[in-house]
Amino acid sequence: MAEMTFKEKMDKLDHIINEHKQKPGALMPVLNDTQELFGYLPEEAQKRISEELNIPMAEIFGVATFYSRFTLKPRGKFTISVCMGTACYVKDAQGVLDRLKKELNVEAGDTTTDGKFTLEATRCLGCCGLAPVITVNEDVYGKLVPDDVPDILSKY
Ligand code: FES
Repeated sequence: MAEMTFKEKMDKLDHIINEHKQKPGALMPVLNDTQELFGYLPEEAQKRISEELNIPMAEIFGVATFYSRFTLKPRGKFTISVCMGTACYVKDAQGVLDRLKKELNVEAGDTTTDGKFTLEATRCLGCCGLAPVITVNEDVYGKLVPDDVPDILSKY
């Protein structure tokens, strides 16, 4: 199936809203479906939800930023998480992060223009013995030095 256009997704969003409109607590299910539909919560979609469900934008923004499953920006196909926990931090996680920023030409929290990678800094990933650690989607890479970065990226 071809990828839906933004407009088609907005039409689908109208259906989603209509399905939930009359039920109490419609906001969460609508936001969940919207996240799934667009891969993030576009501002235009938030506005539509706000108008149709009669919920202030500020409240939607609050919910969207509180739950980590919602994102306000489009995400790449691969999410690179750089652990900034203490064990990793003392082993130059910052150097690894800086190298990733440079190679991908993005800041932490952003997605590359080709939509391939989203770079983010995270809390302890729970494998401190491998510090410093990054994950690329489900793949874990540990005991890194900044010069390992190009090789890792070339796998994706
Ligand atoms: S501090 Fe990085 S995995 Fe725990």
